[in-house]
Amino acid sequence: MNSDDPDWWRGAAIYQVYPRSFADGNGDGMGDLAGVRSRLPYLAALGVDAVWFTPWYPSPMADGGYDVADYRGVDPRFGDLAEAEGLIEDALAVGIRTIIDVVPNHISDQHEWFRSALAAGPGSPERDRFWFRDGRGPGGEQAPNGWVSEFGGPAWSRVTGPDGEPEQWYLHLFAPGQPDLNWHHPDVVTEHEEVLRFWFDRGAGGIRIDSAALLAKDPSLPDVTEPTAPGQHPYVDREELQEIYRAWRKVAESYGPDRVLIGELWLPDAERFARYLRPGVLHSAFNFDFMTAPWTAADLRPSISNTLELHDGVGAPATWVLSNHDVTRPVTRYGRTETGFAFERKRFGVPTDPALGRRRARAAALLAMALPGAYYLYQGEELGLPEADIPRDRIDDPMHARSGGVDPGRDGCRVPLPWSGAEPPYGFSPAGVETWLPQPPDWAALTVAAQEADPGSMLALYRAALALRARRPELGASGPDAAFAWTELGPDVIAFRRGARFVSVTNFGDAPVDLAAGDLAGWTALLASAPTEGGLLPADTTVWLTVH
Ligand code: GLC
Repeated sequence: MNSDDPDWWRGAAIYQVYPRSFADGNGDGMGDLAGVRSRLPYLAALGVDAVWFTPWYPSPMADGGYDVADYRGVDPRFGDLAEAEGLIEDALAVGIRTIIDVVPNHISDQHEWFRSALAAGPGSPERDRFWFRDGRGPGGEQAPNGWVSEFGGPAWSRVTGPDGEPEQWYLHLFAPGQPDLNWHHPDVVTEHEEVLRFWFDRGAGGIRIDSAALLAKDPSLPDVTEPTAPGQHPYVDREELQEIYRAWRKVAESYGPDRVLIGELWLPDAERFARYLRPGVLHSAFNFDFMTAPWTAADLRPSISNTLELHDGVGAPATWVLSNHDVTRPVTRYGRTETGFAFERKRFGVPTDPALGRRRARAAALLAMALPGAYYLYQGEELGLPEADIPRDRIDDPMHARSGGVDPGRDGCRVPLPWSGAEPPYGFSPAGVETWLPQPPDWAALTVAAQEADPGSMLALYRAALALRARRPELGASGPDAAFAWTELGPDVIAFRRGARFVSVTNFGDAPVDLAAGDLAGWTALLASAPTEGGLLPADTTVWLTVH
């Protein structure tokens, strides 16, 4: 990647760091920014163009830092602002841009705004920045409406007044520690534009926008009656969002064309999704349709073609995502009978075949990295970490408790990374230190050190693939050399060309695909996710081919 390229994000490989679990610089069992700084050589060697950090702001951690108490600071557990500035600078020095996570839908109940709203009482201007309402029923003991929190349970909590009596209710689409902001209030609008500037001023290359489809609410707060017409839901995907993000885009562009906005938009309607990527709105958004699709050609092929078509229509690059800090790790998910992902299906003890899952995760990585657009990888994906089983009494994620203990929550993909050694803490923290989430006892073969010594490891595959992706003009961004065209090899195969001399072939079926036949005769393998013997591509394998 040319570091001056304003279009770097169109074809970038972007690595998600979950700071609590990446590397522990101060030996307290929790990751921090000093830990990340010390591991920048690892990220540079992996070959990523940018790092997206999940929130590092001061936070009571009611939702892993997505409850922000101060948008302009760094939680003391992670370091301080100077450490963040140093990290952004050090990363740039090794060619890695930084993407900051901004959480505009809600703040922490410990944020100064919410505390003053509580203190100021009903009807005060301080409360107008939020959604405070009186309850329904005699004495107001029922929530103002029936909205349900994304984490389960009511989306409203009732506060207690200074006299100790129950008082008004406030809206929180997530945990009670995350009160929703009122985006009709000018302070909320101005504050966020200033927060964007704060981080762009410090060299951020991009902003990841948390829960980007939820900010705007119908101020009459009506109950949800499905189905609603597009843009008419009381709080999902409302039209007002387009204007909010157009204003954000102007802020980003005032810093130059290389500063980007990336939306977290969970929207089932692909055309509505694409509207956020029109010129002048967001640059890019995570492709959850692809990420959650089951491991079959019949599911992934239409997902890919719809993605490409919709993004082409608005001139935005596609993104390809296999995992993040909210979803079950690919090696675990792809080894199950049900290989698609859905939040509502998460349960304890779903059986998985780890060898099969790992094989498919390898094939999926090569498939995703060969597609036109940006590739996002979540820390530990390059190590093939499975979803870890966290003992119930150590689960931190509010999704677990709010589901009444039914959903295991998201901690299984948030376990501290294993760097080296034969037992916990695997070089994450100094020996003998207990990590904030327990690491499994059988991860010795998954450490970075072990995988660096093994040419057949997941890490070796990711390094080789990212290096090839960066080197070959056909891969990554679209462009004249990188044109995409399907190659037809049967219903169980996803095969496509990039430019004139590159083909990616993934076999989802049981029958091996003959690579020496038909259109592919004379092509040679550049990289494969599993050995291809006698010119045959076995099940659950991707190969990249070239012709000279
Ligand atoms: C996003 C984050 C998730 C968080 C939620 C609320 O979905 O990715 O981790 O819990 O927003 O901020």
